[in-house]
Amino acid sequence: MLELPLLFGSITIPNRVVFQPMEGCDCETDGAPGELTVKKYMNAARSGAGLIWLEATAVCPEGRTNPRQMMLTEANLPQYQKLVADMRAAAKEETGTDPVLILQLTHSGRQSIVPMIAYRHPLYEATRPVTDANIVTDEYLDTLPALYAKTAKLAVAAGFDGVDVKSCHGYLFQELLSGFNRPGRYGGSYENRTRLYFDAIKAVKAAVPKDYPVVTRLSVTDAIPYPYGFGTNEKGDLDLTEPDRLIGDLLGLGITMLNVTLGNPYYNSFVNRPYRAPAGAPETPETGLARFETVEKHIKERFPSLLVVGSGLSFYRADLIERAESQLERGICDLVGFGRMTLAYPSFYRDHLAGKFDPKKTCVACSKCTALMRAKCVAGCAVFNDYYRELYKEKVACKK
Ligand SMILES: Cc1cc2nc3c(=O)[nH]c(=O)nc-3n(C[C@H](O)[C@H](O)[C@H](O)COP(=O)(O)O)c2cc1C
Repeated sequence: MLELPLLFGSITIPNRVVFQPMEGCDCETDGAPGELTVKKYMNAARSGAGLIWLEATAVCPEGRTNPRQMMLTEANLPQYQKLVADMRAAAKEETGTDPVLILQLTHSGRQSIVPMIAYRHPLYEATRPVTDANIVTDEYLDTLPALYAKTAKLAVAAGFDGVDVKSCHGYLFQELLSGFNRPGRYGGSYENRTRLYFDAIKAVKAAVPKDYPVVTRLSVTDAIPYPYGFGTNEKGDLDLTEPDRLIGDLLGLGITMLNVTLGNPYYNSFVNRPYRAPAGAPETPETGLARFETVEKHIKERFPSLLVVGSGLSFYRADLIERAESQLERGICDLVGFGRMTLAYPSFYRDHLAGKFDPKKTCVACSKCTALMRAKCVAGCAVFNDYYRELYKEKVACKK
């Protein structure tokens, strides 16, 4: 089923393979794509993937995770227009595909260069201290929907096929979802905790042409115990009551595609990207992979009209294609998303189509790409790519 096209509103997604957003921390300081950013996206374009979900792109400078995060502005719009045009041309030339290009819009909240937090989070702050001064005011939050709308308009002008209003991985919108103890208009009740997310979607929808795809990547649960997590009970077990309500409301707002993700990579990375963790890790990757399937299946059954993108598949490594096919056949998701695999082996799908899929080139799920990012370097595959391997040796391994 991987190669089957999928109708998405008035757009046809040529096949079910999604390149997930993968921040490279390699842009120019003004937010324009840098040399390594362009290289990564040209690889993606040549891969034959049906949908390329471009990485977290800040809607304002103070919402950037690092000085080299993507940020689309009026000043650098021409560079984004060029990137989109070059990607389309490369895709056509290499595989004859016309991939759908989605840009992920974000405010990094707690992960911003100066942390901008929704509320004091004792579990999280045990290792990353902040103060009350880092809490964002309601007045500041009020200004954000307009910034999302402005960036979405620029994304249309750049030639992207759609935008993602991101609410995942502990970044601002997702952290607000668990702001049970935050006072004021953005905390406490369900209505208040979802207000900014929904207002941003409404503002984006009002700013872009009618029927322009506005989609979302959501941590359906962050797997952190209530009241410091979303979609969980006090023990941290799944409780999908609120996520179900939220997804129903997203559909009501006209969201027709949901990129399902789980967990918070800064707190429980094994939930977000299953890996063969050292002994004593809280769970096996198989448990994490099963959680993805359970949640995605639940959503698909409850909201059959919603197009679901599945995540967390890179750990399947050599069995990747088989497992992805199986998820599609079982109706767990409509599209299969690949993260770390796209850095390790960007041509895996094209090679599969040509009968040349090489299991030895598949991602080993070591997450060195993340280690590079955490070391404030550019992020890429430190196993199969010489450049990142050397960088890893120099900046990460030697510091251990
Ligand atoms: C280096 C790195 C950068 C990432 N950047 C983003 C991002 O910009 N936006 C996002 O939603 N997820 C991001 N993720 C999460 C991935 O998209 C994906 O959900 C995760 O790696 C699990 O999928 P996988 O098992 O296929 O790798 C990133 C992950 C890694 C390792």
